[in-house]
Amino acid sequence: MLQLPIISLLFLISTCFTSLVQSICTRGCDLALGSYYLEPRNDIASISQSINTNITNILNYNQNTISNKDSLPVYTRINVPFACDCLNGDFLGHVFNYVFRSVDTYERVAEERYANLTTGEWIRRFNVYDPNRVPDYVSINVTVNCSCGDGSISKDYGLFVTYPLRPGEILDSVSSAANLSSELVRRYNPGVNFSSGSGLVYIPGRGLSGGAITGITVGVVAVVLFLAGCLYIRVYRNKNAQVQLMLAQAPNGLLVRGSESSGVPAAGLAGIEVDISVEFTYKELSTATNNFSHANKIGQGGFGAIYYAELRGEKAAIKKMNMEASKQFLAELKVLTRVHHQNLVRLIGYCVKGSLFLVYEYIENGNLSQHLHGSGHDPLPWSTRIQVALDSARGLEYIHEHTVHVYVHCDIKSANILIDKNFHGKVADFGLTRLTKVGSKSHLAGTFGYMPPEYLRRGEVSPKVDVYAFGVVLYELISAKQAVIIVDDSDHESKSLISLFDEVLSQADPKDDLVKMIDPRLGDNYPLDSVHKMAQLAKACTHVDPQRRPSMRYVVVELITLSSFIED
Ligand SMILES: Nc1ncnc2c1ncn2[C@@H]1O[C@H](COP(=O)(O)OP(=O)(O)OP(=O)(O)O)[C@@H](O)[C@H]1O
Ligand SMILES: *[C@@H]1O[C@H](CO)[C@@H](O)[C@H](O)[C@H]1NC(C)=O
Ligand SMILES: *[C@@H]1O[C@H](CO)[C@@H](O)[C@H](O)[C@H]1NC(C)=O
Ligand SMILES: *[C@@H]1O[C@H](CO)[C@@H](O)[C@H](O)[C@H]1NC(C)=O
Ligand SMILES: *[C@@H]1O[C@H](CO)[C@@H](O)[C@H](O)[C@H]1NC(C)=O
Ligand SMILES: *[C@@H]1O[C@H](CO)[C@@H](O)[C@H](O)[C@H]1NC(C)=O
Ligand SMILES: *[C@@H]1O[C@H](CO)[C@@H](O)[C@H](O)[C@H]1NC(C)=O
Repeated sequence: MLQLPIISLLFLISTCFTSLVQSICTRGCDLALGSYYLEPRNDIASISQSINTNITNILNYNQNTISNKDSLPVYTRINVPFACDCLNGDFLGHVFNYVFRSVDTYERVAEERYANLTTGEWIRRFNVYDPNRVPDYVSINVTVNCSCGDGSISKDYGLFVTYPLRPGEILDSVSSAANLSSELVRRYNPGVNFSSGSGLVYIPGRGLSGGAITGITVGVVAVVLFLAGCLYIRVYRNKNAQVQLMLAQAPNGLLVRGSESSGVPAAGLAGIEVDISVEFTYKELSTATNNFSHANKIGQGGFGAIYYAELRGEKAAIKKMNMEASKQFLAELKVLTRVHHQNLVRLIGYCVKGSLFLVYEYIENGNLSQHLHGSGHDPLPWSTRIQVALDSARGLEYIHEHTVHVYVHCDIKSANILIDKNFHGKVADFGLTRLTKVGSKSHLAGTFGYMPPEYLRRGEVSPKVDVYAFGVVLYELISAKQAVIIVDDSDHESKSLISLFDEVLSQADPKDDLVKMIDPRLGDNYPLDSVHKMAQLAKACTHVDPQRRPSMRYVVVELITLSSFIED
């Protein structure tokens, strides 16, 4: 009795909320800059740590200002790059992670570590800790505001610098330093007192010094290319492929047929064929998750929470995403619900009600990253690692070569490979890369450590993007190391797993050093030859030249060979 009003209330709130949100922000942009005022205390390593990027990336945007990274100029500004996200649909900003030390306060973090790009007050808003009692060495959220421009003012500027004003500055000095007219800078910052000596303004990024501009242009072009290319490259195959798709895979009670299904007889389908839409009602999902109760929450991704659900008598995982779904995207979701393969986590359906809800089949055993890097799990035996590699390779081969459209996953990583109760691997979240672009938080278009050079530099998308990332996953399976490793803690320098293995595998006889790379939790329980073969396969997958990387089909065949040797 009580449930219904609550649901309709929730419903109402979420509806109001979205319409409110729409007028504030719906999406961010891939790049914004922060103007960071250098003082003698600063060094490049700690700045890069605060900004959560590597030193090289910062140097790229400051080629004219920083000539020697070990001796920074002082009392001048540099630009630090970050992604500008639509946070909670409320405002544009980026959330940095900062490891809090006992000497810090929120104010000092804002002033000294983030050069007034934020304030103590603004940091307090996004952290659960009592400002006077923040534990040592916890990671806190540091939110920095940003801008993506305003089409109604000018369409010429897409990149904006978040610029903390300093005492002594005036509108004219700020504008001329950026080589922009005062009039333009004023229009982007209506009502701001430029002489107040503090507070944030947003400056269009065109007038930046030469080096930065090239870097930025390349970045923006890459983003545009990415938008155009990623997700899926439509290649039509013959119609029979679609018919086969419809018949593929053993369904369970949850199986629903897309509304566009042809009149193919349901031969081979064990369950009852329910000819309803893949669209669920909010009420049904809410009931299945006890009103999205905390107890039902099983995970938190960058884009929303995952809830365990009992839906029509079956276990399901419901991903609640705080974002809008375009008509075009919903059409695509319908296509995705029809892709069935035992090594792909199945998308059963969706619901749009304030948030976007995606209903997936439930996978019992967590993700591969947890098994490799987490505690709580027994070490995976070598044979299981080969099996999981083979399973996910099959899943990828399927979306690259056997679906009606060619799909490129674009975000393959160990966290996106789920392990089922029989310790088989399943690829999660395929085809959703475009969706996760919108209002994303941490990783925008892929994850560092897994993205190949041609994709990072030029936004080129092909199935070889996934092959490269898959190679990194193979290295993870061997070593249980993260894709990006902090090598020397004093220097805060990070290194990719790929470069670590490259060093080892380029030796004339790599086996001795290879042994040192193998996950210690395996003990001596591995055939070195098999590990070596997998490492060589990973090396081929991560070749810098996409054309020289093997196809997933080739990778599958290699892994089948490896697994057959293990069984003998
Ligand atoms: N279908 C599923 N069945 C069981 N658990 C799942 C399922 N999908 C996700 N999970 C769990 O929920 C967690 C969060 O998943 P999710 O995919 O949303 O986050 P993510 O991969 O960390 O980030 P992102 O949203 O950026 O992809 C995962 O670690 C996974 O273990
Ligand atoms: C540094 O970061 C940039 C972009 O974030 C990336 O392209 C580059 O490969 C990284 N360099 C290293 C050494 O990790
Ligand atoms: C930040 O602001 C404070 C107070 O206005 C000022 O004293 C300090 O110099 C500023 N720091 C930087 C790096 O601009
Ligand atoms: C960031 O933007 C929000 C929303 O516009 C505003 O309330 C907040 O004060 C800003 N924070 C800073 C540090 O300027
Ligand atoms: C940081 O923000 C996230 C997401 O809003 C939140 O879950 C987390 O608790 C915050 N961290 C702290 C230390 O408050
Ligand atoms: C400033 O911009 C003008 C055109 O807007 C350009 O001609 C000039 O070269 C720029 N100056 C500098 C120093 O970049
Ligand atoms: C802007 O701020 C400065 C310094 O606080 C102050 O002296 C000045 O009167 C302000 N100007 C306006 C128009 O409010």
